[in-house]
Amino acid sequence: MELIDGKKIAAIIKGEIAREVERLTDKGLKRPHLAAILVGDDPASHTYVNSKSKACQEVGFESSSYKLPYDVSEKELLETVDFINNDQEIDGLIVQLPLPEHIDNHKVIEAIRPEKDVDGFHPVNVGRTAIGLPSYVSATPYGILELIMRSGIETTGKNCVILGRSNIVGKPMAVLMSRNEEPGNATVTICHSKTKDLKSVTSKADILIVAIGKPGFVTADMVKEGAVVIDVGIHRIESDKTKSGFRLIGDVKFDEVAAKASHITPVPGGVGPMTIVSLLMNTLKASKKEIYPGIDRL
Ligand code: GUN
Repeated sequence: MELIDGKKIAAIIKGEIAREVERLTDKGLKRPHLAAILVGDDPASHTYVNSKSKACQEVGFESSSYKLPYDVSEKELLETVDFINNDQEIDGLIVQLPLPEHIDNHKVIEAIRPEKDVDGFHPVNVGRTAIGLPSYVSATPYGILELIMRSGIETTGKNCVILGRSNIVGKPMAVLMSRNEEPGNATVTICHSKTKDLKSVTSKADILIVAIGKPGFVTADMVKEGAVVIDVGIHRIESDKTKSGFRLIGDVKFDEVAAKASHITPVPGGVGPMTIVSLLMNTLKASKKEIYPGIDRL
């Protein structure tokens, strides 16, 4: 069994990005700039946005955060999005989710200019990904593709089973794994809460991508000998073995599944560290206008 070390791969990619930023600034070009809008006081969202700013700093990007109160109106939030859309200095914009209930997520995401949508959540980017045009791919699927590629795993002709059909992981992952290039060219099955006889489907997977949001859901009897197992889940559970009284686990029962897998991502240290790196890769592409070369940003 080979461990897919997301922490190590993320560090390598950060090094590559930092070198590219140096190359750009040596040529007199500006540093990539990521802006984040954060609404309210949700501690997890604050932690995420702080981690994103820290990652930007590490690779030499500029970053800015726009913090708005929980009771901000949808109109004011949309005006902030528009302000950033029109700021020439800013290459990428993310609006940290979840948003308060009085705000329509879709309306806000659709207000972001697709060429600045480095989260890859705008329907234009989702659609472009689906039809194979250059696009921003959202963080988790993009990170998983990099893990697969950089671990030398071939996907062409393989059976890929995806557990979970969310808009930000399961669905884009299915599109990417079935596209006509490597990584891709896989025969893809998406499973969800209504799938019958799940075990008979998962046990045929050469590549099993698990994003179901249930701690320890995938057990060894559901996995084929020699499968590649990618665990997207992350859950904090009580533990009497750690000082903090908690530990992190994924959607996969790691020890028993690792004994059968050819490759597996640990939790923590697998998919998680790749997500912020994906956002950095997208922001770098935005600053270089790689995805939308014909569009001159305002
Ligand atoms: N909340 C949890 N994950 C994400 C993410 O990838 N992007 C944004 N904008 N919000 C999130």
